[in-house]
Amino acid sequence: MNAKTKAEPGLMNTYKRYPLALRSGSGCEVNDADGRTYLDLIGGIACCPLGHSHPAFVKAVQGHAAGLTNVSNLFQAEDAERLAATLGRLGGMDKAFFSNSGTEANESALKLAIAESGKRRFIACHHAFHGRTLGSLSATADAKYRKEFEPLALPVDFIPFNDTDALRKAILPETAAFIVEPIQGEAGVIVPSADYLNEVREVCDEKGILLILDEVQTGNGRTGTFFEYLAHHGRPDIVTTAKGLANGLPIGATLARGLDFKPGQHASTFGGNAFVTGIAHAVVDAIVNEGMMRNAKTRGNQLMDGIRRLQKSEVADVRGKGLMIGIELKKDAEIVRKGLQEAGILVSVVHGKTLRLLPPLTLSALQVNRFIDAFDKVVS
Ligand SMILES: Cc1ncc(COP(=O)(O)O)c(C=O)c1O
Repeated sequence: MNAKTKAEPGLMNTYKRYPLALRSGSGCEVNDADGRTYLDLIGGIACCPLGHSHPAFVKAVQGHAAGLTNVSNLFQAEDAERLAATLGRLGGMDKAFFSNSGTEANESALKLAIAESGKRRFIACHHAFHGRTLGSLSATADAKYRKEFEPLALPVDFIPFNDTDALRKAILPETAAFIVEPIQGEAGVIVPSADYLNEVREVCDEKGILLILDEVQTGNGRTGTFFEYLAHHGRPDIVTTAKGLANGLPIGATLARGLDFKPGQHASTFGGNAFVTGIAHAVVDAIVNEGMMRNAKTRGNQLMDGIRRLQKSEVADVRGKGLMIGIELKKDAEIVRKGLQEAGILVSVVHGKTLRLLPPLTLSALQVNRFIDAFDKVVS
């Protein structure tokens, strides 16, 4: 507990914050207001793939701040075009629309699917999280997020995750698209069977509906490939990402294959500005060229194997891919989270019982071992 932290002065009551103020950081470490250093395994909830104050990020921010940050969407968008070309090449997609967050990236995807198909009904999964604006919230399953705001903007049929029979049965003549996370994040890091994405693609093709993959959390190298779908055969018609794309600065991306808006159908004042798209390009460059995806795979396996090897009776499951990891405990995970924080390690909790780790992709072998040792002691 940081005694100097005040409770929420002037902020709306949307977040339950830990009583800890973080002031600076470097790599996978952050420092609090009292100068204490922590190993950061939350990483801005997947927003900091490069870690804190990475030299390429700092250089890009400084360079772009000294240039033009926003010339409006009335003029040529060279930085946005360059980012679109790079993401398109990495993901096998041909067009991009840039916005400012994950939920906006999904709003854009839903609108694009409606514009292209002329239909407005969607299918999404139980426990899916696609964002909190009214369109994305329509496809977000849990009552705690949506109940008070119903009826929502779009009709959505919910089916179990990892169940292609349910998908086939749920498709109606008026269905525009299926929207799904390749690995469910907010649901507690739920990894589907290895063939799921390929089978989903086949069903969508067979029934003639669009496939939207929400890679807001899984994207940008986190699972060991730039997008998780690149580890499978199936390609989406639309993929969305956000979170880590500009290492913590606000950006959302909606990439499409063979689909496009018409002028006037969609836009964003801030979306695609030179500042954030220029920085995002430097971030993507570092992810791809500094071996971060390979590191995510290796460190993720080291971490999951290490926790499994402890054979703790308190652990119900260890799951994930790359550096997107859930450690499900048999009891309240908050006690363990607090114990880890006291031991100088930051992790977050989803669904009460699961510790979720989304650290920078630069995590080292020594830092993984430090976490495993601390986890061993705290759980005991
Ligand atoms: C899979 C997924 N989609 C969408 C969102 C919403 O992103 P944002 O909070 O940037 O609007 C999140 C956020 O956690 C997410 O995990």
